[in-house]
Amino acid sequence: MHDSLVITRIEGRVGIIQLNRPSHLNALNDALMDALGAALIEMEKNDDIGCIVLTGSSKAFAAGADISAMQKLSYHDVTKDDLISRNWETMLQVRKPVIAAVAGYALGGGCEVAMMCDFIIAADNAKFGQPEIKIGTIPGAGGSQRLPRAVSKSKAMDMVLTGRIMDAVEAERAGLVSRIVPLDKLNDEALEAATVIAGMSLPIAIAAKEAVNRAYETTLREGVLFERRTFHATFATQDRKEGMTAFVEKREPHFTHQ
Ligand code: HXC
Repeated sequence: MHDSLVITRIEGRVGIIQLNRPSHLNALNDALMDALGAALIEMEKNDDIGCIVLTGSSKAFAAGADISAMQKLSYHDVTKDDLISRNWETMLQVRKPVIAAVAGYALGGGCEVAMMCDFIIAADNAKFGQPEIKIGTIPGAGGSQRLPRAVSKSKAMDMVLTGRIMDAVEAERAGLVSRIVPLDKLNDEALEAATVIAGMSLPIAIAAKEAVNRAYETTLREGVLFERRTFHATFATQDRKEGMTAFVEKREPHFTHQ
């Protein structure tokens, strides 16, 4: 579908995007982020896709932004062409659920991209970190904001200030990842979870995602109000009627995504 920096495929109603720059442990250069953004937008537009899985290789989800590319940049360069808003945050425009399936390194920008996904399933060899401080910079794609929300201030400070790497067990204990699976089961587990989600009503899944995300962006009172209005709005959909009717009639629902 796209150049080989990302490999895309569709299984059932699940769109799978694999980062594919193995020679550099999927270091995220501009071309790779452009390809990722284009793949995400294409899957967002495809009515036959209800959930997206983003993954890397067994060795690296992504070892961060491309340090060799950044090494040459001046302050003027990075402010003039703010790559982060241009192609890193495309993920945030995707309304469909996105699962990160992480094996190996998810460092720096790699960890940040994983955290922009809706949840993270980790292989037992996954390693997370924000080691930017070791190369004289700080997280630049939301890591200093999303990590503390995911794992508490103390652990986020520890990670961001020491640059140390945490393994999958620590990441699950801290709440950064939703589940850990053996490496050889990662793709199956992510596909299975995505297939479950893609089997739900798409407009309702989108509403659920929006509601949970609101928890990070507003006060409790505002968030609860947003949830209530969204809950009310589900009653305007065919799928809400079908879901409840199917339950009452003791049969499986047939969602039409309307
Ligand atoms: C460019 C990278 C890279 C990166 C790895 N490579 N990470 N190239 N940018 N982030 C390249 C290496 O240079 C090497 O290329 C090849 O990938 C294999 O990596 P090795 O280091 O030989 O592998 P290994 O010894 O197994 O060590 C793995 C590693 C290490 C621990 C992940 O590569 C590493 O520390 N990488 C950098 C991690 C990091 O600091 N990430 C944060 C970046 S800053 P050659 O050509 O030598 O074979 C960031 C800011 C985001 O992400 C801000 C938002 C825009």
